[in-house]
Amino acid sequence: QFTSMILSNVEISPGYWRIRLTAPQEFGTAKPGQFVMVRIGGGIDPLLRRPFAIFDIGTHVPAQSGAVPQVCFEMLYKVVGKGTAMLSTLHETDLVDILGPLGTGFDLGDDNEEKLLVGGGIGLAPLYLLATELVKRKSPVRLFAGGRTCDDILCITEFKRLGVECYTATEDGSLGTQGFVTVALNNHLDALKGKATLYACGPDGMLRAVAKIAADRQLPCQVSLEGYMACGVGACLGCVTPGKDHTPKTPDYRCVCTEGPVFDSSELKWEA
Ligand code: FES
Repeated sequence: QFTSMILSNVEISPGYWRIRLTAPQEFGTAKPGQFVMVRIGGGIDPLLRRPFAIFDIGTHVPAQSGAVPQVCFEMLYKVVGKGTAMLSTLHETDLVDILGPLGTGFDLGDDNEEKLLVGGGIGLAPLYLLATELVKRKSPVRLFAGGRTCDDILCITEFKRLGVECYTATEDGSLGTQGFVTVALNNHLDALKGKATLYACGPDGMLRAVAKIAADRQLPCQVSLEGYMACGVGACLGCVTPGKDHTPKTPDYRCVCTEGPVFDSSELKWEA
């Protein structure tokens, strides 16, 4: 747990924000897929911390001469309720209380296999740090980004700057191909000769579709769940999701905040 200073907080697309925050030195070892819990406001409303994926980790050099570079990190967020609306009103030098990094990250897998990242809307957030690490390891990486409109396709320029080949699809056709991003993913997999690992984060329907594609094609697939979290440390069980063997008579639940948020898609129950 640490107090963090906001370095910037900018609206990057209607309703979507990118915030940059200071962090202690040890935060620099956080893994792609891990998250933080942020307390927004000092009062009791909103009472609970909010979970946010780590988008990027970098260094910040304070303005004073001779200052030592500090670790900083970034998050993307969408304004969906009171907490995120309050976060969007905060400015440079404001302080927030952070718990993290938390949870398990992505397994980076075999460097030689193609890595196909599939993100929908704010689900693109944890995929950027993942792409950065995979590119460093010289893994071939492709991104499939989807959304309802072009406003939901975030930070594609940053992915392209890493050298990641990007495919975009929007439901209204305002950017890329019209339709679901999983169509582009399937087309690519049809043409692919070697092996591939899938990594996905986004809305439930998209994750379900990607998990099915992986199961049908017998490809490894890791999904990052955007669960509802209250504590973030395994204490409240408010974030649990059914595991693959779950039935009403034999419950099999996975704790998203401690066992996840990244899971092998074959470990979860995907039927409605
Ligand atoms: Fe409390 Fe996961 S958020 S147990």
